[in-house]
Amino acid sequence: MAPVKETLIQSQHRTHVLQVDESKIGKFIFQDTKQPFLADWKIQLSEGSLDAANLQDAALSLQNSDTPVAFPTETVYGLGADATRSSAVRGIYNAKQRPSDNPLIVHISSLSQLRELLSHHNSSAVTSPNQDPITAIYHPLITKFWPGPLTILLPLPTPSPFASEVTANLHTIAVRMPSSRLALALIHLADRPLAAPSANASSKPSPTTAAHVLYDLAGRIDLILDGGPCKVGVESTVVDGLSNPPVILRPGGVSIDMLREVPGWEDVRVAYKDGKEEGAPRAPGMKYKHYSPNARVLLVQGEMGPDVARKYLGTASSVGLLTTKSWKSEVLQPRPQGRDGERGLGTNSDVSSGSGIGGVKDTASTLGEVVEALDEPTIVSIPSAQHSQIDPESQDEGKLDVWTIALGQDPTTIARGLFSALRELDQKGVEIIFVEGLDDREDGARAAIMDRLRKAAELEISL
Ligand code: TXA
Ligand code: MG
Repeated sequence: MAPVKETLIQSQHRTHVLQVDESKIGKFIFQDTKQPFLADWKIQLSEGSLDAANLQDAALSLQNSDTPVAFPTETVYGLGADATRSSAVRGIYNAKQRPSDNPLIVHISSLSQLRELLSHHNSSAVTSPNQDPITAIYHPLITKFWPGPLTILLPLPTPSPFASEVTANLHTIAVRMPSSRLALALIHLADRPLAAPSANASSKPSPTTAAHVLYDLAGRIDLILDGGPCKVGVESTVVDGLSNPPVILRPGGVSIDMLREVPGWEDVRVAYKDGKEEGAPRAPGMKYKHYSPNARVLLVQGEMGPDVARKYLGTASSVGLLTTKSWKSEVLQPRPQGRDGERGLGTNSDVSSGSGIGGVKDTASTLGEVVEALDEPTIVSIPSAQHSQIDPESQDEGKLDVWTIALGQDPTTIARGLFSALRELDQKGVEIIFVEGLDDREDGARAAIMDRLRKAAELEISL
């Protein structure tokens, strides 16, 4: 692949943000309403709808231009391009400044689109006409989790219909069918498979709103479709069912517990660094710096108090706090807070484990609940930062500014607010971010959150 000419793309584009309300695009017509998007479907665009017109503009741009289009999915915003056209896919790497050996996920809108891409190009010696080109181990997984936040690896067909830049010369191709209706409609209207990484500048936290994309990519792309905040908030789970036993390459919106319930996936293993075992990560993207705000991120496991914080604060005058299970905003206050303060500092593992009475699992504790509820209109709200100040201990020090974001306690809400929180604290100019870690040993839903936090953090502190 020719080296990307980075200097050419700086601020060349006028970036437009177009609103698309997915409920106003038009009417979806399904062949089989029991599995709406797995069987064939069509869309009847609403006449005179601005939302539909914006979507059509984006679809045309994807067909004709080499500049990628940013669009929302249920996980994070993606930066899409026609996966069959090299010049278009190179536009993604160019806009993101992404290393070209990190392969992309191809997004499809129906199984027939995927089958056609996989089989048209396969020689008949490999695939007989009746054989499904989608590897059998994925069938029950697709039935259960597609459309949704799950990416599967398939053997790359030969000759391949995909631009070589999509796979970065691997022999597998990563594919997902998103559940966002806006994303599905866009792929359908463009009538192309869309290669799409997350729409952040490389190494920054993934974008979960159109404003995040604009902040990172203004001047680098022409079009951002704004469909509101993403419902899941962390990227898809990436699985490899071609290896035996199957493995999870990246934890995400579908948890290991949910995968293990599927026939053929009972024995699925973890093949990413989860802080418990050593070993080279197998998803190529994992070796790069990820999800990094400008501030130093310190991931803290356990009780946090002013004494602990002071060890790491140095000369910082502004600090961010991301609280999850039990920290209160007063954890940095030097003076005892009376009974209230004592309660705020403690971490209670019974509360944090997500287990209910008698070991019954808390039903709201998997990101998967979101997967099943995606068709319901959800009002997605994202927590924002609250300001407080701590008085100096001596006269020559200034006050310490504290920006606290309470991410909530259940993994679904934490995942949804996480990237946005890291970005907001950066905008407040904090120098250090203390994050309250989660216990992800027993609950797969917390794994995706801890994975992102471990990548963002320069230090994990166990107290
Ligand atoms: O939720 C998502 O997956 C989002 C939205 C936009 O769909 N996309 C996303 O793409 O997160 P990206 O490029 O940021 O992450 C793709 C991940 C990387 O870790 C990459 O290394 C891995 O998938 N990947 C892609 N193709 C692969 C392959 N053939 N083998 C192994 N890993 C692969
Ligand atoms: Mg990414």
